[in-house]
Amino acid sequence: GITRHYKFQIQLQNVTRLCQTKTILTVNGQFPGPRIIAREGDRLLIKVVNHLQNNISLHWHGVQQRRSGWADGPAYVTQCPIQTGQSYVYNFTVEGQRGTLFWHAHISWLRSTLYGPIVILPKTHQPYPFPQPFKEVPIVFGEWWKADTEDVINQAMQNGGAPNISDAFTFNGLPGPSYNCSAQDTFKLKVKPRKSYLLRLINAALNDELFFSIANHTLTVVEADAVYVKPFKSDVVLITPGQTMNVLLHTKSISPNATFLIAARPYATAPAAFDNTTVTGLLEYEPTKSLLNKNKKLPLHKPVLPRFNDTNFSIKFNGKIRSLANSKFPAKVPMRVDRRFFFTVGLGLLPCRKNRSCQGPNNTRFSASINNVTFVQPNTALLQAHFFNKSNGVYTTDFPANPPIKFNYTGTPPKNLMVSSGTKVVMLPYNTAVELVLQDTSIVTAESHPLHLHGFNFFVVGQGIGNFDPNRDPPKFNLVDPAERNTVGVPSGGWVAIRFIADNPGAWFMHCHFEVHTSWGLKMAWIVQDGKLPNQKLPPPPSDLPKC
Ligand code: C2O
Repeated sequence: GITRHYKFQIQLQNVTRLCQTKTILTVNGQFPGPRIIAREGDRLLIKVVNHLQNNISLHWHGVQQRRSGWADGPAYVTQCPIQTGQSYVYNFTVEGQRGTLFWHAHISWLRSTLYGPIVILPKTHQPYPFPQPFKEVPIVFGEWWKADTEDVINQAMQNGGAPNISDAFTFNGLPGPSYNCSAQDTFKLKVKPRKSYLLRLINAALNDELFFSIANHTLTVVEADAVYVKPFKSDVVLITPGQTMNVLLHTKSISPNATFLIAARPYATAPAAFDNTTVTGLLEYEPTKSLLNKNKKLPLHKPVLPRFNDTNFSIKFNGKIRSLANSKFPAKVPMRVDRRFFFTVGLGLLPCRKNRSCQGPNNTRFSASINNVTFVQPNTALLQAHFFNKSNGVYTTDFPANPPIKFNYTGTPPKNLMVSSGTKVVMLPYNTAVELVLQDTSIVTAESHPLHLHGFNFFVVGQGIGNFDPNRDPPKFNLVDPAERNTVGVPSGGWVAIRFIADNPGAWFMHCHFEVHTSWGLKMAWIVQDGKLPNQKLPPPPSDLPKC
């Protein structure tokens, strides 16, 4: 591999959307941010310079950061934030993975405007395991608020209520013609007939899973979270925040000059308030010579998207995602399990703080937790505390392997709403084979949770609706070709089981990729200890690692 250098200047920029101009945080003045391109095996040196008044930190979502945990980026987990006027060089190699990922800010809600694609191409002369596309096009889904990001955060945090819902969804930062004064801000994909296009789809939205579809065209899913999958066709794909998906689009042999709508809108299980608008873009066939001068108006084709709460679609679609699992791309599913964990994930209610007006039911505010523990962000980074043996007062290692009261979802709230808070982690010896069942509680309202794990890919060996049954379900686990991902949607009122080998020393965040749930505490961390051999140890931090 080669070394590639990037310079990211974090700076303010005025951007106009939906008839309003606001000042947003950007990288190099670009919105969305610049695309990072590398080949598998390359080293990336990304110098991030903070010109803002805010603290900042960037995360390379889905990059496994093998023995480079100092470059992972979540604030107060692997590093202290980069302060005003300071810089930090993120130094890591993209190894053993190729495909589409993305980078985003990992502090507060700043990722609402600070994000961009990461494209990892296969090594030279390594073809894709599908026909070589004519062109590749990243499409990043985002969310846009007219209000200031600060106000949106305050709404969710101070008042303990539902956050301000976004005013638009976007494709590559563009809302498109279904929103007010946005026709000029429309994502357009110009294509030639009878070609294949690789669309690199990224859901960088903050709080919404999204259905995506192109009118009259079937998509072939070939990759999820930068892992090749057994190709399958679908008219609609579903992507949670934190997930990425490569799909092939085969253009038709007809329809010169024809235009088709590209659309995305949320999948949401709660009837509560969410942004249920639709972002649209245009798939435009280039005109043929004979049609160039004829101003022939062809009808605009519109895609059909599932109902907002179509959980059946979600379960069916996710079930189709299978690892290639062939000799060239084997699925290295852990066959042994050293430690089993059962985590309940969900929302809860806490008493309203004094002198606040809270927006939860009966004078409460929303919180979220894993095994009834709401994670409290420490004042210094977990990874430093661990590496220098200074965990005292920073974190404790008593994160529970099971919920305090056996979870049993019956449709009415069980008596295990009591939430405690703390900076608790799970310590794992090097190479521990972990099996983790994530059970959604849906105590407060129907909710799904896209759970994201840093530092590893995991295999989704099982999923189901209702209560996980430790006797009935494990014998049905798929240990042959399960999806290998970094983010999995835990279904509303259901569960997923994942497996991974903890062979990457460091402090690894795991959290819901709905920003609002993360803020409410649906997060925890694993600390993976060094192994015995030199190549099983985390090297010391770089000298420019930011200080708290
Ligand atoms: Cu994409 Cu911890 O995040």
